[in-house]
Amino acid sequence: MKPTPKRYLVTSALPYANGPVHIGHLAGVYIPADIYSRYLRLRGRDVVFVGGSDEHGVPITIKARQQGCTPQQVVDKYHAMIKKSFEEFGISFDVYSRTSSKIHHKTAAEFFKKLYDDGKFIEKTSEQYYDEEAGQFLADRYIVGGCPHCGNEKAYGDQCEKCGSTLSPTELINPHSAISGSTPVMRATSHWYLPLDEYEPWLKQWILEEHKEWKSNVYGQCKSWLDNGLQPRAVSRDLDWGVPIPVEGAKGKVLYVWFDAPIGYISNTIELFPDGWEKYWKSEDSKMVHFIGKDNIVFHCIVFPCMLKAHGGFILPDNVPANEFLNLENDKISTTRGWAVWLHEYLEEFPSKQDVLRYVLCANAPETKDNNFTWRDFQERNNSELVAILGNFVNRAMTLTQKHFGGKAPQPNALADIDNAALADMLEVKSKVEDNLESFRFREALREVMNLARTGNKYLADTEPWKAIKTDAARVQTILYVALQISASLAVVMEPFMPFSAKKLRAILNADSSALSWDALGSATLLPAGHQLGEPALLFDKIEDDVIDRQLQKLEQMKQAANAQAYSAEPQKELCSFDDFQKMDVRIVKILEAERVPKSKKLLKLLVDTGLDRRTVLSGVAEHFDPQALVGKQATMLINLAPRPIMGVESRGMILYAEDYDGKLLLVQPTGEVKNGVKVS
Ligand code: 2FM
Ligand code: ZN
Repeated sequence: MKPTPKRYLVTSALPYANGPVHIGHLAGVYIPADIYSRYLRLRGRDVVFVGGSDEHGVPITIKARQQGCTPQQVVDKYHAMIKKSFEEFGISFDVYSRTSSKIHHKTAAEFFKKLYDDGKFIEKTSEQYYDEEAGQFLADRYIVGGCPHCGNEKAYGDQCEKCGSTLSPTELINPHSAISGSTPVMRATSHWYLPLDEYEPWLKQWILEEHKEWKSNVYGQCKSWLDNGLQPRAVSRDLDWGVPIPVEGAKGKVLYVWFDAPIGYISNTIELFPDGWEKYWKSEDSKMVHFIGKDNIVFHCIVFPCMLKAHGGFILPDNVPANEFLNLENDKISTTRGWAVWLHEYLEEFPSKQDVLRYVLCANAPETKDNNFTWRDFQERNNSELVAILGNFVNRAMTLTQKHFGGKAPQPNALADIDNAALADMLEVKSKVEDNLESFRFREALREVMNLARTGNKYLADTEPWKAIKTDAARVQTILYVALQISASLAVVMEPFMPFSAKKLRAILNADSSALSWDALGSATLLPAGHQLGEPALLFDKIEDDVIDRQLQKLEQMKQAANAQAYSAEPQKELCSFDDFQKMDVRIVKILEAERVPKSKKLLKLLVDTGLDRRTVLSGVAEHFDPQALVGKQATMLINLAPRPIMGVESRGMILYAEDYDGKLLLVQPTGEVKNGVKVS
């Protein structure tokens, strides 16, 4: 067994300061990191919980361009918003700073310089797209063109957002610069690369042999990267926003954002403890844990450890408990489409209900697979778990004590088996929650918390103090004494998960956190007999249907707005000549037969009457139309499109469809029936 670490360094991914934070961020990274840090502090461990905004990178420069302001203005705005949201949700960072700070620029530049001086980089020259009009190299995101896979004409040089393919800029059809609109040219540029391939044997040993305990999603992703073989990674970019490369002749070059961002963990610790930071980063008896989302695994398990190793003197992460993704109402959360629940908006609509969201997001955390947040589940968990189980139990214990014992914890009498059993369950919760939290099983740990409330409820239901009071007040003294100890244990064990409600419960119980300490969790004497309780109050309240309906309507409106925007944003294609247009023979045809193409989800095989002949055309619309609904309909068709074989069938022409805002397809038809073969011009 490993010795208990002397201190902990808990980091959480630095969110990009190009937009506010949403429930996906909270569920994936910040809630687990906060629970873990709060838990360690409650156990009296030395812990520093580091966060901050990631303020470099191309997306921020794109946002600035879109908003007509400087990148610094963009990050100033969003850093403040993000920081405030984290504070409001009780994410208990010891430091929350930013990568545009002076100390970060200095730390990151020095880190690069040490690796540079020690000969850890290789320098390579390659050809990259250059915008001659704008006079700058183009980051992949700044190159737009046709996707070779799905035909989307607005694919980016790194990815097509329509079909999800990963692309490289040279694959784009008709690439053009998103800055000037001009066609970019290839130009040579040189960059520094970290030769990850050289670290492969070491990484294989360190991760695959020595960290078999990492979560299977994390270990599996690392294994797959290592099995596929690593390549040198560029650590610099041609960009005017970021940490300037601190060597001569590197004008116009900055550190690649993924090189400087993780160094942000170091600079933020330095900012917090200018004189004491090193013991967290450089002592073998410190334990570093990175909380991240699954898209960050390679950077935290492979790239950053290689950087630390190349530099020397730093400890490596002991664990990287990455989460999978959270979806929203069965759809991927998307900042660009506005498909998200923003933290600042949540708090406007559910004031003081931080813990409800913290609870739901932890209970349903995407720990082992992608998970889904729905507003109905949110309502259900609030009403039937927080209100009906946890809140109800505490409230019954409190109000009965108020009513029958003037709000003072009564003196217990001889304990019956049922009392001992309830107290034994309570005692067990401590080790169960500890075991789960030490192994990053946050959902399971929270389930144990709720199980303690369930135990309490069952105990009251079985002992029925409200009936017993009529015949045996001495017995009720014991029952309520036991129920109050369970309530007090709940106040302790809730703290890492629901800190606001734990505080409220402490006030209701009139006990402070020194009396309700983690060490005392589960003890049968947390609230001694005679202890005067505080004022009863409800811990949670019911959320009604209309409140949830409003959230669902809001999302629906969001979806419509995003679709409308996507539609209006479709730019006009390049100009074509009249001759080009004249070449196209577009006619009204009639669909005579329609059937699905076997083994294809998308294709329909249509037999059409073109007025000249009857011929077969394939259309990729099987997901939009029932074939029978097309039979007998007139349609518009490009009849002289060169024949193409598709899945063994020759398609002779192309039926035209209109695509609505929401992706729905409609046939393009004349307003009245015309003869088959009539020309459209
Ligand atoms: O994926 C992201 O949002 C990145 N900004 C995370 C950076 S984590 C760390 F390396 F700073
Ligand atoms: Zn595509």
